[in-house]
Amino acid sequence: MSRSDTSCLSLLLVVLFLLLVTGGCRSQRAAAAGDREALLAAKREWGTPPQLASWDPAAAPDHCNWTGVTCATGGGGVVTGITLPRFNLTGTVPAAVRALKSLARLDLSYNNLTGAFPAAALHACAGLRFLDLSNNQFSGPLPRDIDGLSPAMEHLNLSVNGFDGEVPPAVARLTALKSLLLDTNRFTGAYPAAEISNLAGLEILTLADNAFPPAPVPVEFAKLTNLTYLLMDNMNLIGDIPEAFSSLTELTVFSLASNKLTGSIPAWVLQHTNLQKIYLFTNNLSGELPRNVTAMRLVEFDVSTNQLTGDIPEAFGDLKNLTFLSLYKNKFTGAIPATIGLLPRLRDIRIQDNQFSGELPPELGKHSPFANLDVGNNNLSGRLPEWLCASGTLYNIDAFNNNFSGEFPAKLSDCVTINNLMFYNNRFSCDFPAKVWSFPELTTVMIQNNSFTGTLPSEISSKISRIEMGNDIFSGSVPTSATGLLTFLAENNRLAGELPPDMSKLSNLTDFSVPGNRITGSIPTSIKLLQKLNSLNLSGNKISGTIPPGSIGLLRALTILDLSGNELAGDIPPDMGQLHLSSLNMSLNQFTGEVPPLLQIPAYSRSFLGNHLCASAADWGTNLPTCPGGARDELSRVLIILFSLLGGAVLIGCVGVAWLLFRRRKESHEVTDWKMTSFTPLDFTESDVLRGIREENVIVSGGSGKVYRIHLGRDEEGGGRMVAVKRIWNSRKVDEKLDKEFESEMKVLGSIRRNNIVKLLCCISSQDAKLLVYEYMENGSLDRWLHHRDREGAPAPLDWPTRLAIAVDAARGLSYMHHGCAQPVVHRDVKSSNMPKVADFGLARMLAKAGEPESVSAIGGTFGYMPPAHMLIWRRIVCRIRVQVKGEREGGRLQLRRRPAYQEGPPFDDVADVEIRDDTACLQDVLSVFTLGVICTGEEPQARPSMKDVLQQLIRCCRVPAEAETCRVE
Ligand SMILES: *[C@@H]1O[C@H](CO)[C@@H](O)[C@H](O)[C@H]1NC(C)=O
Ligand SMILES: *[C@@H]1O[C@H](CO)[C@@H](O)[C@H](O)[C@H]1NC(C)=O
Ligand SMILES: *[C@@H]1O[C@H](CO)[C@@H](O)[C@H](O)[C@H]1NC(C)=O
Repeated sequence: MSRSDTSCLSLLLVVLFLLLVTGGCRSQRAAAAGDREALLAAKREWGTPPQLASWDPAAAPDHCNWTGVTCATGGGGVVTGITLPRFNLTGTVPAAVRALKSLARLDLSYNNLTGAFPAAALHACAGLRFLDLSNNQFSGPLPRDIDGLSPAMEHLNLSVNGFDGEVPPAVARLTALKSLLLDTNRFTGAYPAAEISNLAGLEILTLADNAFPPAPVPVEFAKLTNLTYLLMDNMNLIGDIPEAFSSLTELTVFSLASNKLTGSIPAWVLQHTNLQKIYLFTNNLSGELPRNVTAMRLVEFDVSTNQLTGDIPEAFGDLKNLTFLSLYKNKFTGAIPATIGLLPRLRDIRIQDNQFSGELPPELGKHSPFANLDVGNNNLSGRLPEWLCASGTLYNIDAFNNNFSGEFPAKLSDCVTINNLMFYNNRFSCDFPAKVWSFPELTTVMIQNNSFTGTLPSEISSKISRIEMGNDIFSGSVPTSATGLLTFLAENNRLAGELPPDMSKLSNLTDFSVPGNRITGSIPTSIKLLQKLNSLNLSGNKISGTIPPGSIGLLRALTILDLSGNELAGDIPPDMGQLHLSSLNMSLNQFTGEVPPLLQIPAYSRSFLGNHLCASAADWGTNLPTCPGGARDELSRVLIILFSLLGGAVLIGCVGVAWLLFRRRKESHEVTDWKMTSFTPLDFTESDVLRGIREENVIVSGGSGKVYRIHLGRDEEGGGRMVAVKRIWNSRKVDEKLDKEFESEMKVLGSIRRNNIVKLLCCISSQDAKLLVYEYMENGSLDRWLHHRDREGAPAPLDWPTRLAIAVDAARGLSYMHHGCAQPVVHRDVKSSNMPKVADFGLARMLAKAGEPESVSAIGGTFGYMPPAHMLIWRRIVCRIRVQVKGEREGGRLQLRRRPAYQEGPPFDDVADVEIRDDTACLQDVLSVFTLGVICTGEEPQARPSMKDVLQQLIRCCRVPAEAETCRVE
């Protein structure tokens, strides 16, 4: 071969090489152009949303510069990543994605994407390592060949979607997986535990919140020794926490909460030094906490709502990183170790509903940014720690139902951050600092049943909505200004002075109850400004003068009125006949004249005793004297007609029957026994319930009675159940007729079996009181979720779909009561504190079936009528009225003020609760429900829709037709 030949060959080679390289360049350029086309196609498939405006070759020729797009490093324009979380995308995963051959990362989380798992598109992306489709609305089963995804797949996040069926075993053939997140879907089949346990590299595994069939904790997972994050809550696990999991030494977060686990907590749980968060709450775990505590990085520990016993191990005082300690609803005993008070990071302690005793750690709060103390329902005693608010971060103290004593801690009286003070049912004494009433964040003060002294300032912080201070020793007078106050209960104190002449600054009150005080003066006309007042109790004071016409008679929302035992005189103004009261007591005053005719009905036959009143109606069962004049004439006319029609013999018969009835009534007065009517098979007796009727079990005390939470069977080992008992006092002994009615009513209520209605288990009655025993609602009421969840660590705010679901559920319950029962039932006390199940039939009464005059007079007349204007619940769900809207004082007055504004077109954003206001997806629905609420609370009863219609409308608001699924009922 000649030299020239060689150089020729070299030249050829160089040319060939150049050709190859430029050819490669050309093919890379072609790939880049293809990728750009694919992106543009994807954009079109997504409907060209404005969020992707930057995906525009005219404006930005280099697609690598488009929002959310990443390309291979070194130029060339090959797309390797699409990252578009929270982009408000709708539709499906675009088929065009399959053309992105080099795609390694696809993050479409937190959008509104629908459809099935996009297997066809994704299987084509042979290099995909990171796939996040979480928090969308994908549905249907996962493909059996999910292992058609790239074998390089490391991160697969499908959580918070609507995937159903089984988790396919093939998922475990993605052997490079480090994270597998499948929680919060609708899987109902099995999950391949054995296969998953072979994914040796797995670090994150979440299966939580799926309705898997009940099964033990898969002990195979003990092989996954690289796991740092294991979330298996709420997925029907049974049996014990495996001892074998002690191999999982890398765990930082470990949750098996909300299952049905039994047995005790294994020792390793408090020994693995990497563990930071341990959640085992809401199971049936028993036994004591492990004593050997060396998990020094522990930050959060929650074992609440189990059956755990014993005390808190001393060693917990060494957990220097602990911020959150939650042990509530167990059977713990003993004292809290003083060293707990020295922990430098502790923010939140929840140990309520146990049997802890002794004093709280005296230095609690002194060494840490302490924020929340929940210690109610224990046997704690001594003083409250002085330092709780030392860091200025405290917002809540729940110390009710204990034996605390001593004075209000001095340092706490400067704790301006606090918003909730629950000290009731203790033995606190001395001065309740007046400063507290002006704390800017304070909303709830419940200090009843102590021996606090002190006075109320004339002006109360406008944020305070609830004051309960009954059975203390407060003096001074009733405040004149408390613009946010809804509930003021101050029975049996030494309040004196007069009611404020101008009550306009109390106009949000719904319950005003000050019986057994020393209030003097007269009833101010301005009381008519309390247009939301539901219950007014001024009994047992020294109020005198007359009731001004145009005062109490104009309180349209009033259902309970007690003015008994005062020095009121003069005529009862006729306008009071317009009130629709379920309970009225004006006895033991010095009223004169005739009872207004509209009030002369059997329900009020005992409401006017002990005055100088007379009556004209002959047949309303009172023993007031007959007024002189026309009434008597009418009576005799009736008698004459009777005589002429029926004759003497019949009359004699009537007299005989009346005499018999009279005798029976007399006899029944001597019976003092309790009588139990049960509506379901019971595992307790009436004496079990009666034993629990103690002050320390009171959870609510209100106008018509008290509600007790009673644990039945605490003394026996384990078991037992919690019931809520509502005790209704009868101010006078009930006669037999009323008793009968009560009983038949209870039977109706007891026979209602609906998921939406809280179960009435039994009714126990005596001459003096009625006890209604209900199932106890573990999750608290909607009220608590909507209004009391500003606390750290409280459940997340309710999102709109959940709120809507609750509304639908409540409407269903009410609709059933109104339209579905043999005899219609009117609830009459619908409010968010009675949700999510329609609970508390305290005021519920049967309405007689139309066209049955007899029962109308007996029942409708007995209990009065109340319009269903209490549908405020819908508004609350939308607006969370009790919380200030935009920090103004407007919230509570919404009812009156918002209507015109709404009619002009909604200034909607300042009506809706901040938590749902930003959710544009639901704004239309929020608006519809708000509108519905406005209509439901309209002035004209005829214009209000029936519960059936309300339910239909609400269901329409639920987006997906399969309402039973979407409107999650929990
Ligand atoms: C990418 O876009 C930004 C802003 O739109 C611009 O400043 C930048 O020069 C662009 N870069 C390229 C490589 O096109
Ligand atoms: C999505 O919608 C919300 C609410 O309208 C908006 O605040 C947010 O900026 C949007 N996100 C994008 C990426 O456009
Ligand atoms: C989210 O998807 C649902 C169902 O496809 C749809 O009705 C709703 O309007 C979507 N929301 C947004 C913000 O696009």
